[in-house]
Amino acid sequence: MAAMPFIEDAWLLIEDSKIHSFGSMAEFPALNADEMVNAEGRMVLPAWCDSHTHLVFAAPRDGEFVDRIKGVSYEEIARRGGGILNSARKLNEMSESELYDQSLARLIKVMDHGTGAIEIKSGYGLCTEGELKMLRVIRRLKENAPIPIKASFLAAHAYPQEYKQDKEGYIRLIIEEMLPRVASEGLADYMDVFCEDGFFGIPETERLLEAGWKYGLKPKIHANQLHYSGGVQVGVKHNALSVDHLECVGDAEIAALKGSHTMPTLLPGAAFFLGIPYQPARRIIDAGLPVCLATDYNPGSCPSGNVPLLLSIACTQLKMTPEEAVNAVTINGAAALELENELGTIRPGKRANIIITQKMPSLAYMPYDYGNNNVYMMIC
Ligand code: NIG
Ligand code: FE
Repeated sequence: MAAMPFIEDAWLLIEDSKIHSFGSMAEFPALNADEMVNAEGRMVLPAWCDSHTHLVFAAPRDGEFVDRIKGVSYEEIARRGGGILNSARKLNEMSESELYDQSLARLIKVMDHGTGAIEIKSGYGLCTEGELKMLRVIRRLKENAPIPIKASFLAAHAYPQEYKQDKEGYIRLIIEEMLPRVASEGLADYMDVFCEDGFFGIPETERLLEAGWKYGLKPKIHANQLHYSGGVQVGVKHNALSVDHLECVGDAEIAALKGSHTMPTLLPGAAFFLGIPYQPARRIIDAGLPVCLATDYNPGSCPSGNVPLLLSIACTQLKMTPEEAVNAVTINGAAALELENELGTIRPGKRANIIITQKMPSLAYMPYDYGNNNVYMMIC
């Protein structure tokens, strides 16, 4: 993860939306390009692949932000019927077209910060029509955005109020009613569950992941954010593409991940915003595992889809080197979206989703210059 090969003083040719070729200016071939961009003093990087977001939502939750400042915990807010349920109420009141317009504006903003592929989850509907509405909004974004988008089905994000006393009823609603409709309309690529004490436990998570697999939906789950819940082990057992969050990771979680095909995905923006302990990135990397970074962009635990800021948090708080952090959100992010053959590195034949940075002296300057958007130009 620490390796970041680069060519100083280079050219790069894009043809038919793909990276055609590149090399050193010392061997610049005679090219007849339609358009030229002078990138002198700048860096050319593969665009970010943000593999975990909840970018489709209806309203901010700044009131809860103030409650948390005053000492009420994220879990307590959820127990009182706020949090995810608050977002679900707002989303179910909003029309599909308004939800689409808001989400598209957010997508354009994150692309301005260098995001060139993204995953977006449902999970603020928590009823059949609401979940389908969210997934249809994501499908419309897929159809209209110039970047690849993957959709995850996350009805198992929280128990809606009317099922608080009938949790079995909600699980059955997801498995028997929602999943068949999501699958028949082809609305999701992945199956997600918020596996956590107080949300969906291990037996429920296992049932949901098995049900998702029956429709070909690979798991990509929320695990070990607030507790050592066994979520990482359950994800590995069910061949999850990734297990995401990982604030609580010890020897057992690392042992489970070793030898698996499951990508450990860290969301330090959420730990930053909730003020909880950060993910042990160094322990994971030093155990020989890969690490992926994603924003978790959502109105509750991380209202920012800004990857340059995520890189700064990863470097300063998780002690990842700039090279590790950039690899984590490019090639490893692409792998966590099954797009590693298409995106995530600069290689002939790959899709030309590319960042040209502001003028900067080194790669380290980007996370160093925190809070600023060092993306000068995005080519998608
Ligand atoms: O990844 N932890 C669960 N889901 C989101 C937060 C959702 C919310 O608070 O709206 C997360 O942090
Ligand atoms: Fe999340």
